[in-house]
Amino acid sequence: MRGFIITGTSSGIGKALCDLLLEDDQNVVLGICRTQSIEHANYEHLHMDLKDISELEDIDFPDWSHAEQISLIHNAGWIGPIQKLGKQEVGAIASSYIINLVAPAVLSNQFIAKYQSSVAQKVILSIGSGASRSPIAGWSTYCSSKSGLDMLSKCIAEENSNFICLSIAPGKVDTPMQNDIRFADESEFPRLKEFQNYYKKGELVGAKEVAEKYKIALSDPAKYLDINRVSEI
Ligand SMILES: NC(=O)c1ccc[n+]([C@@H]2O[C@H](COP(=O)([O-])OP(=O)(O)OC[C@H]3O[C@@H](n4cnc5c(N)ncnc54)[C@H](OP(=O)(O)O)[C@@H]3O)[C@@H](O)[C@H]2O)c1
Repeated sequence: MRGFIITGTSSGIGKALCDLLLEDDQNVVLGICRTQSIEHANYEHLHMDLKDISELEDIDFPDWSHAEQISLIHNAGWIGPIQKLGKQEVGAIASSYIINLVAPAVLSNQFIAKYQSSVAQKVILSIGSGASRSPIAGWSTYCSSKSGLDMLSKCIAEENSNFICLSIAPGKVDTPMQNDIRFADESEFPRLKEFQNYYKKGELVGAKEVAEKYKIALSDPAKYLDINRVSEI
């Protein structure tokens, strides 16, 4: 069997990937987020707000002692309040970094501790973002937390030769996150019309299409170590 721990399985890319993985009855998924939207014999849900960082420390991941592969997928993400710095509330700034970067670091810490001596192939896949490499006005906490997530992945790889770490950006995907982006205030987000046009012109990719690429990467992860974008898969 193959075991997958996926954050953010209630919508968008995380839900699409979870649905696809569950088509194979050898796959077992533990989903972590605030809302459960998947019911399946091989699916277990952990209701959790990733902002509750102290609770993450108490998570007891499954033993999965007969697994051939065990993967942790950092998918949950928050675009944050789309606002320039100077106007943001301290709590929102903190939440953005906690969801996008601190929670992945804490979960990776727990994951490595739990499965370090497992003979299974061990994989940590971070759902990155092109925004980690391109500054976007109004998205400062998102861009910088996604940059941090990329570097976290690289550091974990340096520390653990027995864990395969991938950080792969999905491109522009038609999910609730993109919907939030289209309803931002243009004075806070100067590129608003450009993002509205991606949607109007049908340039967003479907979540299922993107999830299929991540599924391919997970089937032979060592092959995709140097890949940064789903379009390269
Ligand atoms: N869509 C794009 O164009 C795009 C582009 C680049 C990168 N990405 C990345 O792709 C990943 C998935 O995004 P998506 O577009 O599929 O967005 P989405 O549909 O909005 O899904 C976000 C997921 O994150 C979970 N989440 C958010 N805040 C949480 C919290 N406090 N605690 C627990 N879970 C939380 C949500 O679950 P609950 O609300 O149920 O908790 C949801 O399942 C993100 O990391 C995002 O940064 C997306």
